[in-house]
This record gives sequence, structure tokens and C-alpha cells, in this order.
Amino acid sequence: MTKWAERERRHAAAFDAIGVRYDEAFPHKEGQLAAGGWLLDQLAPSSSILDLGCGTGLPTAAQLAGAGHRVTGLDLSAEMVRLARENVPEGEFHQGDLRDVKGQYDAIVAFFVLLMLPLAQIPESLALIHGLLRPGGLFCLSMVEADLEEFPISFLGQELLVSCLLRDELRAAVEAAGFAVEAENVLSYAPSSTQAVPEIQLFYHCRRV
Ligand SMILES: C[S@@+](CC[C@H](N)C(=O)[O-])C[C@H]1O[C@@H](n2cnc3c(N)ncnc32)[C@H](O)[C@@H]1O
Repeated sequence: MTKWAERERRHAAAFDAIGVRYDEAFPHKEGQLAAGGWLLDQLAPSSSILDLGCGTGLPTAAQLAGAGHRVTGLDLSAEMVRLARENVPEGEFHQGDLRDVKGQYDAIVAFFVLLMLPLAQIPESLALIHGLLRPGGLFCLSMVEADLEEFPISFLGQELLVSCLLRDELRAAVEAAGFAVEAENVLSYAPSSTQAVPEIQLFYHCRRV
């Protein structure tokens, strides 16, 4: 088994074990809902939207599919895909790695998923996302702000490896991948669970140029 396959297997197993506890630990989703609202204000009816690392489908896939858009969600974890199908029956959900996605979309969201990748894979993934969007397509990204490279953390009782950037570095990476940043929201976030620590969350609302 390669290093990549082992890492993905570990992360998939961790999120299988976390399941619904993810939504219980992070009940306040103002930044994510605001990013979804930004998309809804601009997208034509029945737009195609890809939700990378969709988790349980809450709140984002539900928000976007509930507004009549065609939402495709992707997640490494079989349990997250099962929960997303249950929570958002009108969406289409697949198990897989975001780095293997093909197709073309009107909008893409990637909320707190690129931080699961090795640092060097973050710019590559942003370039991949750029290539999956139609010209002028919209992209919403969120990350946790920190200076970390494949840092082991205990998250809701599971071991994860996370990579994070500081806001100026992340913004530069987003712009270098070919996006115009139309809004940057910085939020302080206190999870409900004592098994997750307070964090600074970064939300970028972007357009493919
Ligand atoms: C922190 S959760 C975020 C879930 C959801 N986007 C949200 O913000 O509510 C990260 C999700 O990304 C998934 N994930 C991790 N690495 C992934 C990868 N390489 N490809 C696809 N999904 C991945 C995990 O299984 C998990 O469901």
C-alpha cells in the first residue's frame, strides 16, 4: 500500500467513526451558510455544483440542493456518503478522493477538506478545481488558519494529519491557481465539543478568471 493510500484509508476510517458527531461538534455554520448564500445569489436555476469532502451533506449540500440546484457530493468516507444520501435525498453522492474528480461544474465548494491533504497538494488541488469549473464559475473555499504541515491532531477522538496555511499564503495560493477572490471572511470558532479546539476559520468566495 502506498503512503497516499494509507493516508486516505486512515482519514476515511476516522470520518467513518466520527459520523454524525461532526455536526454535533460544529453546530454553528454561519460562514458556510453565508458562502452558500453568495452562490445562491448568483447561480442560474438548476446549476451544477460539486461539493468536495461533503461530509454529512449538512448544511451545504442541503442548502444548495434545496434551492433547486444539481448537487454532486464526494467524500472519502463511506459513512459520510451514507449520511449525506440520507440527509439530502435530492443530491447525488459518491465515495472517492477529490484528486480523482472529472467533469465540469458551474460552482464548486470545498469546506474544510483541503486541510486533510499534504501541504504541497493544496496548490495542486486548487489548480484541479480551477480546471473543473466552467469559465466564470464560482468557487467557495474554507480552511482553518494555522502554519502546519501534515500535523497530527486528535479530532473527536480520531487521529488526523492536517496541513494549514496563514491567510496571506492561502489567498496567494488561491489567486495563483487562477481565481479572483471576491470576499474573504475570517471567523473565530468555538466548537461545542471539548474534543475539538477553538480555531480561526477562513472563507474565500472566488470566481474563476
Ligand atoms: C472536516 S470534514 C468537512 C465536511 C464538510 N465539508 C463540512 O464542512 O461540513 C472533512 C471531510 O472531508 C473528507 N475527506 C478527507 N479527505 C478527503 C479527500 N482526499 N477526498 C474527498 N474527501 C475527503 C472527510 O471524510 C470529511 O468528511
